[in-house]
Amino acid sequence: MTTTVQLRKIVVLSGSGVSAESGLPTFRDAKGLWNNHPWQELASPEGWQRHPETVQAFYNERRQKAWAAQPNAAHAAIASLEPAYEVVIVTQNVDALHERAGSTQVLHIHGELAYARGTSERRHRYRIDGAPIEMGQFCEDGTQLRPDIVWFGESVQHFDEALMHVSDAARVLVVGTSLAVQPAASLARYAHHSAEKVLVSLDMEEVPRGFDFMRGKATEQVPALVARWLAQAPQR
Ligand code: OAD
Repeated sequence: MTTTVQLRKIVVLSGSGVSAESGLPTFRDAKGLWNNHPWQELASPEGWQRHPETVQAFYNERRQKAWAAQPNAAHAAIASLEPAYEVVIVTQNVDALHERAGSTQVLHIHGELAYARGTSERRHRYRIDGAPIEMGQFCEDGTQLRPDIVWFGESVQHFDEALMHVSDAARVLVVGTSLAVQPAASLARYAHHSAEKVLVSLDMEEVPRGFDFMRGKATEQVPALVARWLAQAPQR
C-alpha cells in the first residue's frame, strides 16, 4: 500500500537536546544524566524494586527542575508553525516545555514527569505538574504512586499513532536526540521517501538516510528552519 503524504503535516521527533538550552540535562553527553547516574538503578523496574526512595527522589528533583525551566526559542519556533500546518510532536522528553510553548499535539512516548501513576499498572494517572510524589502516597488501586515515566524494559507509549503520523508527513524534523534508544530512533526511518527530512543536533554519529543535517544549537537552527517552512506553507 502506498501512503500519500499530507502536504500540511509536519512531524517533529524531539529529544533532550531541544531542552538543553532551557537548562535541562541531556543523557549521553559529558554532563548527561546517564554519565553521572546509573540508569540501571534509576530507570528500570528492578531499580525501583531495590530502592524506591532513591528513584522517587531522583524524579522529584527532575520534575521540580523541569517545572522551573522555561521553553526556549526552539520550542517557541515549533509552536509557531501551528497556524500554517498540522504539527505533531513525538517527543522522548518527559518535560512539558513543548506544551508550555504552545504546541497542542504532543505525544510523549517516554512518559511525563507531570503525571503520577500506580505501581501495578498505568490505568490510573494523576496530574501533579511540578509537585513531588511522596512515599506512602497511594493510587486508588492501593499501590504506591510512581512517576509516569517509561523505564527501560517497559513499553513505550503512543507508538502506533506516532508511526502513522511520521509515515505521511510532508516534512519531518528530528531535533536534539542521539537516536540511541529504540524503538524511538526507528521512527525516523519511517518518514516518507518524498518528505523533506531535516536533522538538527550538535553532533550525530550516523545521520539517517535522506535527512539533511543542520549541525548546531536547537535555538539557532530550528527558528531558521521554521522561518523557511512558514514562508513555504501551502496555501489553504
Ligand atoms: P542523548 O543525550 O542521547 O542525546 C542528546 C542529543 O542532543 C545529542 O545528539 C546532542 O548532540 C544533542 N544536543 C545537545 N544539546 C543540544 C542543543 N543545544 N541543540 C541541539 N542539539 C543538542 O538524549 P536523547 O536522545 O534525548 O529515555 O535520549 C533518548 C532517551 O534516552 C531519553 O528519552 C531517555 C534516555 O534513556 C528514558 O528515560 C526512557
